[in-house]
Amino acid sequence: MASGTLEVAAQPHDTFPINGTDYIEFYVGNAKQASHYYRAAFGFRLVAYRGPETGTRDRASYLLQQGKIRFVLTTAIRPDLSADAKRIADHVYAHGDGVRDLALWVDDARDAFRKAIERGAEPVQEPTVLSDDDGEVVIAAFKIYGETIHSLVERGGYRGLFMPGFQAVTPSYNPPEVGLRYVDHCVGNVELGKMNVWVEFYAHVMGFRNLLTFDDKTISTEYSSLMSKVMANGNDRIKFPINEPARGKRKSQIDEYLDFYRGPGVQHMALATDDIITTVTTLRDRGVEFLSVPTTYYDDLQQRVGKIDEDVESLAGLGILIDRDPDGYLLQIFTKPVEDRPTVFYEIIQRKGAKSFGAGNFKALFEAIEREQGLRGNL
Ligand code: FE2
Repeated sequence: MASGTLEVAAQPHDTFPINGTDYIEFYVGNAKQASHYYRAAFGFRLVAYRGPETGTRDRASYLLQQGKIRFVLTTAIRPDLSADAKRIADHVYAHGDGVRDLALWVDDARDAFRKAIERGAEPVQEPTVLSDDDGEVVIAAFKIYGETIHSLVERGGYRGLFMPGFQAVTPSYNPPEVGLRYVDHCVGNVELGKMNVWVEFYAHVMGFRNLLTFDDKTISTEYSSLMSKVMANGNDRIKFPINEPARGKRKSQIDEYLDFYRGPGVQHMALATDDIITTVTTLRDRGVEFLSVPTTYYDDLQQRVGKIDEDVESLAGLGILIDRDPDGYLLQIFTKPVEDRPTVFYEIIQRKGAKSFGAGNFKALFEAIEREQGLRGNL
């Protein structure tokens, strides 16, 4: 059962209107191979490309799509040629493959950027107009934790597929989708003592509110603990939980992330499905690795969450976790890190009314993470 403190303050007025997540851009060492992984394993479609063949000499980007989710995988080709490409290569050197940009879709990028900067955000890119035969996109960006940024993307004046510079591609290799529909939430890990700094930032600069708070008593195992606050925007479509490590007997999973990512960054993205059993079965068949909980987790399930529509044996067979809150229940499962550094991973989530984040599963889940940390020698 979710036991965090629910803090929902009525928002009289949305001071920073955001329509939704526009795209998530990753800086990676080898975008061609990373895009193959997300297509073959996660069922994303490759829909557009930007690189030397389309006139961009120094870097390459692959636009992948599934449902409303857009991933852009970008790599440096000639870090010696431009500051942009060097920044990408430096980012990969420091962090490994990781999220650079949680891009947000807005109606007026200039206005949103001006407000963000006035309220204290640090600029990364002044509003810039990108245009081609299909119209124009206005894009601006500011910093958040670590080297992560929020781009603000205004696309009202654009009829094209994605963005000027990208060319549509129609590959013959198209593994079937796995049923992923939209980004449910994106979680950031920040340093000890910095959670409230970023909570304040989202509240003050972007008009977010604190939806839920988990203290170190909610989220602790025998060994380690963390604290987390969930921030949500005015229309509730964007949810950014922020984690910081808390003191425990051993190293927190957040500390492990901070050590290997070399600083704060995006820890996991939760991708929503309408049929978690089919989605997770397919992902497993295609080689995606998930954390597993002991089978005893399912022993008292009925008692803990009450009646659910799904067959408990199927859920247990796949390792899917269940939690209930006053609005309904949710089903969730977490992948292992999707790269060699123990940093970025995914959550697959199906909401059946529940608006929370699975606090009832935190203990079982964190014990599973600690078993993996132990195997890596990082506990
Ligand atoms: Fe999550």
